[in-house]
Amino acid sequence: MVSKFSHLYSKNAREMKASEIRELLKLTERKDIISFAGGLPNPGAFPVDKVREICNHLLDEKGANILQYGTTEGVMELRKAIADRMNKKGMDINYHNVLITSGSQQALDIIGKTFLDPDDTVIVGAPTYLGATNAFRSYGAVMEGVPLDENGMDPELLEEKIRLLQMHGRSPELLYLIPAFQNPSGVTIPLERRKRILDIAREYDMVVVEDAPYSELRYSGEALKPMKAMDEDGRVIYLGTFSKILAPGFRVAWCIAEPDLLNKLIIVKQASDLCTNTFGQHIAAEYLNRGYIDEHLEKIKSLYKRKRDSMLAAMDAHFPAEAKWTKPEGGMFIWVTLPKCIDTKDMFVRALENSVAYVHGASFFADRSGKNTMRLNFTYASDEDIDIGIKRLADTIRQELETCRKEGKGKDFRPNEEGLVVGV
Ligand SMILES: Cc1ncc(COP(=O)(O)O)c(C=O)c1O
Repeated sequence: MVSKFSHLYSKNAREMKASEIRELLKLTERKDIISFAGGLPNPGAFPVDKVREICNHLLDEKGANILQYGTTEGVMELRKAIADRMNKKGMDINYHNVLITSGSQQALDIIGKTFLDPDDTVIVGAPTYLGATNAFRSYGAVMEGVPLDENGMDPELLEEKIRLLQMHGRSPELLYLIPAFQNPSGVTIPLERRKRILDIAREYDMVVVEDAPYSELRYSGEALKPMKAMDEDGRVIYLGTFSKILAPGFRVAWCIAEPDLLNKLIIVKQASDLCTNTFGQHIAAEYLNRGYIDEHLEKIKSLYKRKRDSMLAAMDAHFPAEAKWTKPEGGMFIWVTLPKCIDTKDMFVRALENSVAYVHGASFFADRSGKNTMRLNFTYASDEDIDIGIKRLADTIRQELETCRKEGKGKDFRPNEEGLVVGV
């Protein structure tokens, strides 16, 4: 929509577009639609009673102090509790390494503001999280995607991409990764690849952003060390958040970096919000220090595991043979690849007619490829709706396949045969 003040907008603001996914989510608010589109935690997974208990305690014991402005770095108890927790995952840090942010989304924005000038290059997965590319693009940076396979980013393809960019005089500054249960694909980068990617980042002098909102949500397989735990020269910035393990409404997340780099991020953050929500930070600190988090994690992991298994079972039972999909060991998403004759953006109209919703895959690709892919969220819908919704989606895909057969739209009715291809 053009406002009467558009001519006064900054160049940056003029180029910012509404997030495609947010726009699409509005369509899926219809009561009859079963939506696998959003990336929402299940509201049944919010620890309402524990939060009430903590709030009462905090207001009784600490009174007005917890309602005051705080430091930009964040509430000390929380920074310490996070450092302890991260050290249990193999890091070697203390509170000087921890900055509390207003959601990881703010950390992505701060990182963009700190590192990116117009036309700088950021390497991302193809596909990747749209919120990150939107944040980086808002500083004029250019995204370059490296295709993913079932083990996430392939280091060889990454190096190939960097060499190609360098031949054109472009040296990427940032490498943005979601190594565990990636949004949108659900895939995880194994340890060996993580190490190799770090070597490459060192060789080509890139800062690695390790975005890990789902890393605690593992339902099967072995836990893996974060890349930050293998970071020998302080080039990894690690992002964690309470959004998926407590509640996104608090907007409390953390960013881990070397103290000198962290100081720069703190200065940059100061201009944007002075400090993160102090009340939410105190609640999060109590939640960690009382040990509620591990109890709660067990609860949500068993809930989400059941939902993941139900969705995978329903897909096995109902989806046509032409569809392929990832089998994530954790997180919130399954990624589906359909025959190339299908454009999931066009198919969305039919999906809405059939009262089911997803996010079309192209929105997660920097170059808008992946038209035959889509993302399904398995954490939000009820168990019953998962089965019904997957049946509706299976019907939608069959109808779409039938249409492309009739129209003879391309000959390619099968997904790529080289096993799972996430980025097509
Ligand atoms: C990969 C990724 N990074 C960051 C975020 C933002 O999380 P937060 O709620 O902490 O801002 C999300 C949210 O879904 C995400 O999927």
